Amino acid sequence: MKGPLVMASAFWHPFADMSKVSKKPFIIEKSDDVYVWDKDGKRYLDATASLWYMNVGHGRKEIIDAAHRQAEKLPVYSTFGDFSNEPAETLAEMLSERAPEPGSKIFFAGGGGEAVETAAKLARRYFSVLGKPEKLYIIHRHHSYHGTNGLGTSLAGIPANKVGFGPMVRESEEVPTHDAEALEASIVRLGAENVAAFIVEPVIGAGGVYPPQPGYLEAVAQICERHDVLLIVDAVICGFGRLGGWFSPERFGVKPDLITFAKGVTSGYLPLGGVVVSPKVAAPFWDEPGNVFRHGPTYAGHPTCCAAGIANISILEREGLIERGAQLEEELLQTLQVAENFSIVSEVRGGVGLLGAVELSPTFLKSQPQGVGMLQDEMRSRGVITRTLSTSVAFSPPLTIEKHHLEELSDALSDSLRALEKLA
Ligand SMILES: Cc1ncc(COP(=O)(O)O)c(C=O)c1O
Repeated sequence: MKGPLVMASAFWHPFADMSKVSKKPFIIEKSDDVYVWDKDGKRYLDATASLWYMNVGHGRKEIIDAAHRQAEKLPVYSTFGDFSNEPAETLAEMLSERAPEPGSKIFFAGGGGEAVETAAKLARRYFSVLGKPEKLYIIHRHHSYHGTNGLGTSLAGIPANKVGFGPMVRESEEVPTHDAEALEASIVRLGAENVAAFIVEPVIGAGGVYPPQPGYLEAVAQICERHDVLLIVDAVICGFGRLGGWFSPERFGVKPDLITFAKGVTSGYLPLGGVVVSPKVAAPFWDEPGNVFRHGPTYAGHPTCCAAGIANISILEREGLIERGAQLEEELLQTLQVAENFSIVSEVRGGVGLLGAVELSPTFLKSQPQGVGMLQDEMRSRGVITRTLSTSVAFSPPLTIEKHHLEELSDALSDSLRALEKLA
């Protein structure tokens, strides 16, 4: 008798080499707080909070019940035109109250990529309404990641993410990661009359976890203001406690014109994203009849997703989790610094929010081009989930992580690096 047929999966995974993944998907079956279990019952510490989003920890019945109650009453209904629903109204109010600028408006989207598209289009539309339609350029940083939609792909500072897609939106420009003066030089060279916005992640996430250098965000905010360029803070990863505040720009005393959010707004229990629109940008659309922003995804203001967001925000607030990203940042950095004892590691980054990365040395990666994946595998075999970035491995655990979990992480990291160092 033949054995069971090994079927390739039909599920095409994002950012995956399906020739390898399809025959051996890593199936996660259940989760609780900072742990997940695979289909064979093996337990893993979720040191990445899934994809940077599980801020309140897995298995929160309160969020599941809130979504369930809403789904029984009104699972979904359009919010185009004058249609609305209570959860969308309530969540918008809650987010506006917590935004850096009082009176901010909330435009909902389905996730971070749609939030970026919304902010980028709104920046252009804003200037067009003001009679400055030539203000089109959007500037971004090297290493940045702003999702995979059209404008977001054009604003990618990770070169590989643009390969093979043909021409991008022409009016986009890249500046070096940490150089505020380069931003000003770029605005002057393009002509401020042609520049709509600058988009910035407070801590760059998917591009490698690069915290801002001291004074960088404050400086770029001033440059934008000086040149009438809108500041878009992409807080998709950094919001909802990850940097110790609701949206993250507060930490730097910066008041952006637009803030994109997603992930931590529901801790990923249901998909949701959006844009916090400052009163300045909202005014021409809210105060003057006829200026319609002809934009919005079908599921904007989805009541069940918004109900999950409301419950998630109550947990973040009640349990003091918002502050925890900043409270734990030093401890996470110290945990990762165990990696500095190994010659195959060139840098440990972190210290701003509950985010960190271990960068493998160019020499090691030259001899072991798959080194980053190998480190992920070593960690996984020791029961810790990490995330591979191009030359580093990232860590962004749930905000509920405790000291003993960090010790578990530290042990797995040093044992994994020790195993890999033998190959160097
Ligand atoms: C900073 C940033 N912006 C935008 C996005 C895109 O979000 P989504 O994957 O929800 O479309 C991400 C996703 O990781 C992100 O990290």
